Amino acid sequence: MSVSETTATAYPNIALIKYWGKRDEALHLPVTSSLSLTLDIFATVTDVRVADDLPADVVTTADGSPSRAFTAKVVAFLDVIRGMASDDRRARVHTVNTGPTGAGLASSASGFAALAVAAAGAYGLDLDRRALSRLARRGSGSASRSIYGGFVQWHRGDGLDTAGDVSSYAEPVDAPQLDPALVVALVDAGEKAVTSREAMRRTVETSPFFQPWVDASKTDLHDMHSALAAGDLPAVGEIAERNALGMHATMLGARPAVRYFAPGSMRVLDRVVELRAAGVAAYATMDAGPNVKVLCDRRDSAKVAAAVAETDETMQVMVATPGPGAVVGGTSDR
Ligand code: DP6
Repeated sequence: MSVSETTATAYPNIALIKYWGKRDEALHLPVTSSLSLTLDIFATVTDVRVADDLPADVVTTADGSPSRAFTAKVVAFLDVIRGMASDDRRARVHTVNTGPTGAGLASSASGFAALAVAAAGAYGLDLDRRALSRLARRGSGSASRSIYGGFVQWHRGDGLDTAGDVSSYAEPVDAPQLDPALVVALVDAGEKAVTSREAMRRTVETSPFFQPWVDASKTDLHDMHSALAAGDLPAVGEIAERNALGMHATMLGARPAVRYFAPGSMRVLDRVVELRAAGVAAYATMDAGPNVKVLCDRRDSAKVAAAVAETDETMQVMVATPGPGAVVGGTSDR
């Protein structure tokens, strides 16, 4: 019997310029380019064991059996890899998430980045980082960025089909003068009511505010590069905050509207405004969930974390700093 096995570890990333909207649903080709920061908390460790005696893929997680929807996404992703490797053997996938799943904390980014690296290894594909980024994108768009550490841009690429697929990948962006932290305020750890995939589709199809945000996002990305190159944290934060709130505005304009703001999110957003009024450079961003992430300088992170922790409804606060890209290795304790 032939068996091959690889374990990989990847970290989530939080977008400062958001990915919101696809131009191709199957290949996960985005409407806009996006830019993120990979974190050093909430790693996902995934083990893939390929064997020729398995009748079907088996997917397990640390907390028991995953949902059907999750298993279906993993199997679809393995099908992509099997096609690339011309190898139709099935696999056992065991994945362990150290952060909350499905709560807008980018578990799908770390999850599919780890799965891409582990599955490519187990199926014997020798892929460079760029190819791994394209591959991770097929699982979840934002996963393309978690292949790299630090600040990362995912290029929207040009065209559709093969041209779109080949040109849409992530790569690192240098910002040597910055020493950022991201304070994560957990106001609700439950699974979201509307998945980001569904919310994104509904926004593209129905929101009159989507195209204006796409146009604004191009300017935001351009300005973000200047701010990162200049090491200007307040500018980085201002651009990130306006881009995120703009993304949420597109969702509020969808029919029916998608709203991820919870009362606790509003309290943290208010606290961030108060921090700025008190002279602390702190800026908020939110994804497809109610939790708020606050960008600040590492030196201010304890102060920001304490201020955010005091707000009613904040259950937990964690401080993240820039984390590494996806790597082979780790222990999933299967
Ligand atoms: C709000 O990457 O989870 O976090 O490609 O459909 O899997 P799919 O979507 P996903 O969307 C992430 C959306 C976001 C913004 C971002 O991370 O850029």
